[in-house]
Amino acid sequence: MRKIGIIGYGNTGQFLCRKILTDPKYAAEFDLKFVWNRSMERLKAHRDTIPESLWLKGETLESAFQNYIQNDGEIDLIVEVAHPNVVRDCGGLFLEHADLYVASITALADANTENILREKANKNGVYLPSGAAWGIHDVQKMNQLGTLRGLHVTMRFNADALRLQEPLKSRLQTYIQSNTQEELVLYEGNVRDIAALAPNNVNTMTCLALAGSDLGLDGTQGCLIAQKEHDAHIIDIEVEGPNGFKVHTRRYNPAKKGAVTGDETYNSFLISLLKAKGQGAGVHFC
Ligand SMILES: NC(=O)c1ccc[n+]([C@@H]2O[C@H](COP(=O)([O-])OP(=O)(O)OC[C@H]3O[C@@H](n4cnc5c(N)ncnc54)[C@H](O)[C@@H]3O)[C@@H](O)[C@H]2O)c1
Repeated sequence: MRKIGIIGYGNTGQFLCRKILTDPKYAAEFDLKFVWNRSMERLKAHRDTIPESLWLKGETLESAFQNYIQNDGEIDLIVEVAHPNVVRDCGGLFLEHADLYVASITALADANTENILREKANKNGVYLPSGAAWGIHDVQKMNQLGTLRGLHVTMRFNADALRLQEPLKSRLQTYIQSNTQEELVLYEGNVRDIAALAPNNVNTMTCLALAGSDLGLDGTQGCLIAQKEHDAHIIDIEVEGPNGFKVHTRRYNPAKKGAVTGDETYNSFLISLLKAKGQGAGVHFC
């Protein structure tokens, strides 16, 4: 059994914990060692599901984890389902002790964080779940063959599901308050820049851009659109190869109002957990 720790007890963290603790298929694979959340209040409110003995406690996440290790705590896989800042601040430390599964993939759009993770993944591996990135292994194959010519990802969210930084935040507020029912194109350009402006929403673009590393974050084009019609997350992926080769996929994923993760993406994350093992050092898609 893989000893697993979950960092972040939001929608995804709660879903994964529930599966690991109650579904025999996942309970047979994983031994849940700890759960950390930024606010303890949320863990307190769920003590029936996550007993206090599993709470990772400390002033900071770093000190809580160091304390766990110093007290002979063992861990094989750390699952980040919180925020890109957690990966930036603690990803390197985690990799010294365990494999690291990163849901907040936009963390790697910051070149410094990407470099640290690649450097520290010299014994354990970084696992990036494909999440909503349909066809990622095909993009990766084309990249390895040197045939990837273009990659364009459009993500449409209900305005309520967007968590943006300025200047996009104010534009979105104005749009929400207006009576228009038209959609709003918030951004069109390279993936690196939008990852900094919408870190919670463009993990899929970032994941694809990392798989298509010949184009990378600066060469992959991203488009972010807000709409008011429904709550689903819609992702269009357009891949171009040589001699007019083209693939276009559309993923329509129902979502709860305001959720940054669509319904089927929780299941995708879960299956990726089973695959997050055995690849050794380096960065792997799962
Ligand atoms: N890879 C993908 O395709 C993909 C898809 C959807 C979501 N995600 C990412 O996965 C992560 C979890 O998603 P979710 O749906 O569970 O989100 P959520 O908002 O339901 O939960 C996030 C949790 O992280 C905590 N958190 C927020 N900011 C934090 C910070 N700065 N430091 C520490 N903790 C913080 C929150 O308190 C909450 O417990 C998010 O970063 C999200 O962007 C990735």
